[in-house]
Amino acid sequence: MEIESRPLSDALGAELFDVDLARPMDETTFRTIHGAFLEHSLILFRDQHITPEQHIAFSRRFGGLATHVFDQFLLPEHPEILRVSNKREKGELIGLADAGKYWHSDLAYMKRPSLGSILHALQVPPTGGDTLFANMTRAYDTLPQAAKGRLGGMMAVNRVAEGRRTSVDGRIRMSKAQLTKTPDVVHPVIRTHPETGCKSLYVSQSHTDRIVGMDLEEGRALIRKLVAHATRPENIYTHKWRPYDILMWDNRCTMHRVAPYDRRHRRHMHRTTIKGDTPY
Ligand code: SIN
Repeated sequence: MEIESRPLSDALGAELFDVDLARPMDETTFRTIHGAFLEHSLILFRDQHITPEQHIAFSRRFGGLATHVFDQFLLPEHPEILRVSNKREKGELIGLADAGKYWHSDLAYMKRPSLGSILHALQVPPTGGDTLFANMTRAYDTLPQAAKGRLGGMMAVNRVAEGRRTSVDGRIRMSKAQLTKTPDVVHPVIRTHPETGCKSLYVSQSHTDRIVGMDLEEGRALIRKLVAHATRPENIYTHKWRPYDILMWDNRCTMHRVAPYDRRHRRHMHRTTIKGDTPY
């Protein structure tokens, strides 16, 4: 089955047309969408008026769904959905309002990080609040040969971002109980995509804390250098949200962050997070 599409940028991403995720999906259509997801690492569907149940059902086609450790922000009745939102009820935030402040790949601080995430925009600010995506396969491919050799086999400690532990930057903190569920983990600096076989850089600003066996500051300087390399403008797609957009990204070969916006405006989204494998 053919689905019409157009590239979103030179770096990554494609928009898929004439798909209604509210309707039951046959296996052939699903396989085409799955193929586009693997090919482009990021797929966009516009104008999707779907319920949480339909969002969950579509997400489950790709794998089991994670229940986010920030359990106070899960959608009541649907713990598969994390609310990424600055809405308040009775003065309390109902969502993870500051998700994605820094470059990251979802759940990189878990032993088995996420395969992919599916974000449904319900309310968006008039300007700002864009989501930027970096192509980490291209980041790997464009490394000098000597660097590829040096980084292959290198391991890094990934952990919940410092701001989530201490609120040093004013971010929403994880509770002690939530932090207990997320001990530090070690992942390769270069990972191989389990479905495409492509290699990608797997370090991020939020979660990669240090390089195993390397002096702390030397390792952190290397992480900063690799993130700077991965986030050069030609390697980025910037998504300007419209209400009812659905974006699905591959956490195994991309990273993302959210651009600032005026917090007086509502930004309200639902995210499912698909479980993935242990990186290798
Ligand atoms: C996230 O999943 O990191 C948030 C992305 C977004 O809010 O655009």
